[in-house]
Amino acid sequence: MKKSRLPLLLLALAAIFGASFGAREFSAQNAPAVVPPLPSAQPQIAPEILPRQSSPVAPVPGAVAHRATAIPDRIILSFQTNPARSQAVTWRTDASVSGAVAQIALASAYPKFVETARTVEAQTSPLQTDLGLAHYHSVNFVGLAPSTLYAYRVGDGTNWSEWIHFRTASDGAEPFSFIYFGDAQNEIKSLWSRAIRAAYSDAPRARFMIHAGDLIDSANTDAQWGEWANAGGWINSMVPSIVVPGNHEYGQNPGGIKRLSRHWRPMFTLPENGPRGLEETCYFVDYQGVRIIALNTEEKQLEQAVWLETVLGNNPHKWTILTFHRPLYSSARGRENVALRQLWMPIFDKYRVDLVLQGHDHTYARSKNLRAGVNVRNNQSGTVYVVSVSGPKMYELNREPWMARAAEDTQLYQVLTVDGNTLRYQARTVTGELYDAFDLVKKGRGVNQLVERVPAAPERLRPAPAAAPKPR
Ligand SMILES: [Fe+2]
Ligand SMILES: [Fe+2]
Repeated sequence: MKKSRLPLLLLALAAIFGASFGAREFSAQNAPAVVPPLPSAQPQIAPEILPRQSSPVAPVPGAVAHRATAIPDRIILSFQTNPARSQAVTWRTDASVSGAVAQIALASAYPKFVETARTVEAQTSPLQTDLGLAHYHSVNFVGLAPSTLYAYRVGDGTNWSEWIHFRTASDGAEPFSFIYFGDAQNEIKSLWSRAIRAAYSDAPRARFMIHAGDLIDSANTDAQWGEWANAGGWINSMVPSIVVPGNHEYGQNPGGIKRLSRHWRPMFTLPENGPRGLEETCYFVDYQGVRIIALNTEEKQLEQAVWLETVLGNNPHKWTILTFHRPLYSSARGRENVALRQLWMPIFDKYRVDLVLQGHDHTYARSKNLRAGVNVRNNQSGTVYVVSVSGPKMYELNREPWMARAAEDTQLYQVLTVDGNTLRYQARTVTGELYDAFDLVKKGRGVNQLVERVPAAPERLRPAPAAAPKPR
């Protein structure tokens, strides 16, 4: 969510006329751009796979249950600035709430810690959706101490959330774990919910959750955002989210122009340190010795390539992890992103990116160390690429030699731990079985040793089609 406050008059007009507030209205005009945008033509990438806007979206059962009320909901933590010194939170109410605030205090077992809380005024933006007008509120708590447990709540003086805990990052490199999800996208309430709940049960002290795009299926369907927020529930208010948009977070306006969901920027408060025009969709976060870079595969790929050179070229951290939606190496048939790979992979190779976390292909596939192409395996360096899926929509796997471990028809989540020179990766099914694992060990001078820890269980693959009978 942007920093500026919209005039109250605009709120009133929106309430009266039901004006539609698109993503542009939330753009920060003064957001710093590391690299000016390039006017040059975009590379040819795989055909866009956009939500079908021409056919009506099937109504979500119980959609009205997702309408805003005066009670704060969709409370989501995220990082906007330094995670050791700040913490952002975003929440929603109906349009009756305009004086929203958040309170924060050092957490204590002594319940009267609340008397030490300070109050921070929220920034409020209206959002007209297919369920009516809502107000989205955000606060970026700043001036925090590193490695410290805080308690906060959000509200308006009358209706409050519960007091919720979060811990700031340390000032330097320290071991920590985080969670990574591929596409949630479909049947979010009924079936994706078990992915986020299993992941949290497995790694309750995870410091953040990465969502690699396609969080929902239909970019501007409010009830689907409601399902996503409710599936995570209070987990989202305790564990920050790092999110990138997928093709399903983009819709087409009546003129056929591809556009970021109008829910995206009100719903999340994210860094604005990426290229101009990609605020809160392309950015980086530094967390305890790891640089996490979120890229947006849906637009301005060339501008991101230029920006990426600066962000990777000035990276003081030991580990570098990238996340974006469309995989450079596809795991499903007919979905290769060759042009994007040719544009971005040489930069990944040049700066020895350790790990790339992706979505989009609704299968699971994890590579060995790859450098300069799928046929160039390099045990001593190279990048590990992962495609995963957390929701129930499943595609057919296109088995390729680069895949060290793959799966079909399996909902998964991943828990990663960074500890000094070792990065431990585990993929688990939503029923808790270890499905894939490896360690990356830094050996100095940019060399990563990949240690396979794949469990003995066979791969979960669809049965091979029966051979056609031989003609007599
Ligand atoms: Fe998807
Ligand atoms: Fe996708």
